[in-house]
Amino acid sequence: MPVYCITGANRGLGLEFVRQLAQSPSNVVLALTRSLSSDLTDLKAAASANTHILECDVSDLLSIHHCSKEVALTLGATSKIDYLINNAGVNIASSQNSLNLGPDELMAQIKTNVLGPAKTVEFLLMAGVLAENARILNMSSGLGSIQSSLASPKCTGYSISKAALDMLTVHQSNDLKEKLPGVVVIAMDPGWVRTRLGGEGALLTTQESIEGVLKVLHSLKVEDNSKFYQYNGEQVPW
Ligand SMILES: NC(=O)c1ccc[n+]([C@@H]2O[C@H](COP(=O)([O-])OP(=O)(O)OC[C@H]3O[C@@H](n4cnc5c(N)ncnc54)[C@H](OP(=O)(O)O)[C@@H]3O)[C@@H](O)[C@H]2O)c1
Repeated sequence: MPVYCITGANRGLGLEFVRQLAQSPSNVVLALTRSLSSDLTDLKAAASANTHILECDVSDLLSIHHCSKEVALTLGATSKIDYLINNAGVNIASSQNSLNLGPDELMAQIKTNVLGPAKTVEFLLMAGVLAENARILNMSSGLGSIQSSLASPKCTGYSISKAALDMLTVHQSNDLKEKLPGVVVIAMDPGWVRTRLGGEGALLTTQESIEGVLKVLHSLKVEDNSKFYQYNGEQVPW
């Protein structure tokens, strides 16, 4: 039974991953959410019998550490994560530009969007729950592409954090190879999607975006390690 682990699973794109993956009874889904005290009505409605809802605040190292142990207990000795989706992310103070960046706002985005995925991978690896040929997807953004931003840079702090996440992807894809020989780590641009973060004017529904993302995820080969893809399967320039 393939095991999927998704951060930020209670709404938006994370919830849509759970919705689509839980439809197959053969999938085990670890749905990680910032707080078990949040309103989890939609997540519970999307969950199957093989969906486990666990707490993981990716901006809090102790929470990630605790969660990695919970994941090990939930999976037991015989099962490991085949697909890790580092989806949780924030876009704060998007009107700030490079000449008036708020230190607190920038650091909050780095903490959640970069350090979070780094420590999630590190602690899950330490807990021994990542499969040898795990597929790890870091949810980036077209705004994280330096090449694409040259024409019209937007959301300065957020785009800096996503460009840093892209670089983290390259480092993880190299550093993990020794420990997980078949690993593939990629950055993903899900497109511009109608969620709280994407806004109502966005082009795509969550269903369209995640159907595409899962198609890309399921077709990854070892030679795709350290690539940056869009939800439609096209490669994104760094
Ligand atoms: N929507 C788009 O157009 C778009 C485009 C490019 C990239 N993305 C990326 O796609 C990912 C998902 O975005 P979305 O559109 O679904 O955004 P969203 O609707 O705002 O949902 C964000 C999710 O991340 C969770 N989250 C935020 N901080 C967290 C933390 N510290 N710990 C755990 N969970 C946390 C939220 O949980 P709470 O409910 O607890 O806050 C929520 O579940 C993000 O990484 C985003 O940057 C989105």
